[in-house]
Amino acid sequence: MDKHKVKRQRIDRICEGIRSPILNGPMPTRPLVALLDGRDCTVEMPILKDVATVAFCDAQSTQEIHEKVLNEAVGALMYHTISLSREDLEKFKALRIIIRIGSGYDNIDIKSAAELGIAVCNIPSSSVEETADSTLCHILNLYRRVTWLHQAMREGNRACSVEQIREVAGGAARIRGETLGIIGLGRVGQAVALRAKAFGFNVIFYDPYLPDGVERSLGLQRMGTLQDLLIHSDCITLHCSLNEHNHHLINDFTIKQMRQGCFLVNTARGGLVDEKAIAQALKEGRIRGAALDVHESEPFSFSQGPLKDAPNLICTPHTAWYSEQASIESREEAAKEIRRAISGPIPDALRNCVNKEYLLAAAQWSGMEPAASHGELNGAAGYRSVKGEMPSKGKKACAVLNCLEFLQEPTSMILQ
Ligand SMILES: NC(=O)c1ccc[n+]([C@@H]2O[C@H](COP(=O)([O-])OP(=O)(O)OC[C@H]3O[C@@H](n4cnc5c(N)ncnc54)[C@H](O)[C@@H]3O)[C@@H](O)[C@H]2O)c1
Repeated sequence: MDKHKVKRQRIDRICEGIRSPILNGPMPTRPLVALLDGRDCTVEMPILKDVATVAFCDAQSTQEIHEKVLNEAVGALMYHTISLSREDLEKFKALRIIIRIGSGYDNIDIKSAAELGIAVCNIPSSSVEETADSTLCHILNLYRRVTWLHQAMREGNRACSVEQIREVAGGAARIRGETLGIIGLGRVGQAVALRAKAFGFNVIFYDPYLPDGVERSLGLQRMGTLQDLLIHSDCITLHCSLNEHNHHLINDFTIKQMRQGCFLVNTARGGLVDEKAIAQALKEGRIRGAALDVHESEPFSFSQGPLKDAPNLICTPHTAWYSEQASIESREEAAKEIRRAISGPIPDALRNCVNKEYLLAAAQWSGMEPAASHGELNGAAGYRSVKGEMPSKGKKACAVLNCLEFLQEPTSMILQ
């Protein structure tokens, strides 16, 4: 038997019982792409209009997703406000590609996705600068107490005398010469390091996954262990991805290894810190102040959970990433990645596939020739009109939008 045929049969056997590969499976003439946890597709539409029909679901769980999307969507776009476990992924019968509009993908079981034949991509460049700037904003707030000073003024404190200034600004500290400890020196961690140096911080970091030499190219001091970083830092900032090895990396035990009166900042992921332990450490003054953009349970509310009566705490609602420019850029990149998935082989045509290793290990896609690309996915096939009910403002809904029609309408009328 010829070599090519043997390889093909091997792949077919592996795929059996999973789902047919995107290139050869029975595909709808016009693929359906769904935004799972949002409503606004105005940026994505112009990029995808000639190759796909775009739907939006505005869902917070897969239970809220319309059956049509579960049965027919080939591509999914998603933010961080919905999670996809294996059980959730199994509900999608035709899905081949998921794009996380953002960098963190801890809300998707990427290994199970690969086993089910679904490629997962992120947008790694999205919001690096915004997140680093927000982190510095938090760090500066802890040292310079701007948030609390503002609050005191709002409450009527006028701080007329030097004594009153000392009282209201008590705890404000000098930055130059302080040591900032960065846990996780990836894209955001590095951007924070560069900014912090300009403020006079001595910057150290801990990241066991980086090769030797990064510390030299960035002029930072590398710590060999987490404990070393904790012992030597006046302010600790978290920038590692959340994975199965580092849940509650900051806990009662690791807090005890920190300097007395250390500051803590987390703009990475809520699961990295044990909020109960932080609350206790803030109450006891072991941690002097903390600033958290991300929380164990989101959306965060001050009225619930262990942090509700913790002092010296600044919280923001997972917004470190946001600027209008960053949001638009990442949505454009996400739509372009979907386009690549539709018109080229998966995962080779993708720029930022985060489960490529698992996909290849499952050998589902190996040996696929780019030339085997499905012609109909290139928009060559006839237009398949799928119209749905337009949701009214504020109503949870899943609508399938005919993108050609959509473009003829003023977008704000449809989406609001
Ligand atoms: N709050 C927000 O709005 C926002 C915005 C963007 C990114 N993030 C989060 O920030 C984090 C960093 O993003 P990024 O784009 O820089 O990711 P990245 O993948 O570039 O960097 C993560 C780094 O963490 C390191 N790391 C992993 N586990 C570690 C551990 N146990 N100890 C030390 N280092 C470890 C990795 O080696 C890597 O260098 C992610 O968790 C991401 O989800 C949050």
